Amino acid sequence: MAIAKLFAENGAKILIADIDEKAALITQKTINKLGGESSIFITDIANEKGCRDIVETTTNNYGTIDILVNSVAISGRGSVTEITGQSWDRVIDVDLKSMAFISKYAVPVMEKDGGGSIINISSVDGMRAGFTKNIPYTVAKGGMIAATRAMAVHHGRQNIRVNCIAPGLLHATMTDGYSKKNRVLRKNLAPLGTEGNAEDIAKAALFLASEESRWITGVLLPVDAGLMAAGPQSLLNNVMDDWEWS
Ligand SMILES: NC(=O)c1ccc[n+]([C@@H]2O[C@H](COP(=O)([O-])OP(=O)(O)OC[C@H]3O[C@@H](n4cnc5c(N)ncnc54)[C@H](O)[C@@H]3O)[C@@H](O)[C@H]2O)c1
Repeated sequence: MAIAKLFAENGAKILIADIDEKAALITQKTINKLGGESSIFITDIANEKGCRDIVETTTNNYGTIDILVNSVAISGRGSVTEITGQSWDRVIDVDLKSMAFISKYAVPVMEKDGGGSIINISSVDGMRAGFTKNIPYTVAKGGMIAATRAMAVHHGRQNIRVNCIAPGLLHATMTDGYSKKNRVLRKNLAPLGTEGNAEDIAKAALFLASEESRWITGVLLPVDAGLMAAGPQSLLNNVMDDWEWS
């Protein structure tokens, strides 16, 4: 929602794709209040057909696609000894396959119309081992980082830039249920020692979507208060014992 809102404030016409109509309508209402333009498309992004329909609807509604933000994700808990085939398949399909298959249909549209910017929202969990045990999510987010680099190389000559943001331990919908203690632990891990939010990610995404970043492609940008610069030792040493597992 924060990315859609900031992009709309900056003049983008937005197709909001979500499986949850209520969530999509909240985003649309926010954009409407700002005087922005948006439409919603309800689908399960885990299916190739859903991905194709999103691209088709966007081009029908707005003529082309300049920017694609791949941000949909669900969490996928468990170490390798705890995972189930069902959760593995679902998380990989929703978090990773969707990015590939929406891009599959969006890239030809961008190429035809002179280029575009694809922004993949990964996670610091895709860069290094975190303290939460979430193998399917980690694999999906790591896959996004690898795919970003390959896609940037494959589609550079079509003037399509592909970049990746790795949000840190910020506070957003996904972490709404965390206890106050866990939120303080997360905040204290990063060098800046402050709590980030979805707007911090949106500002980075806006830069990567804009002409200001016209010579930037294939990068992985952690937006994490310095967490990845500090390394994972702090995670292991400071938090494992204190974390409140739910
Ligand atoms: N919140 C954090 O702390 C954090 C940290 C690192 C990375 N991220 C990443 O940032 C992105 C956004 O996170 P968020 O906290 O805003 O999440 P969120 O849950 O608010 O947003 C995800 C949206 O995806 C939708 N969705 C889920 N399954 C879907 C499906 N099959 N088809 C279509 N839509 C579906 C949900 O309904 C939801 O509206 C995610 O990619 C997440 O991995 C978040």
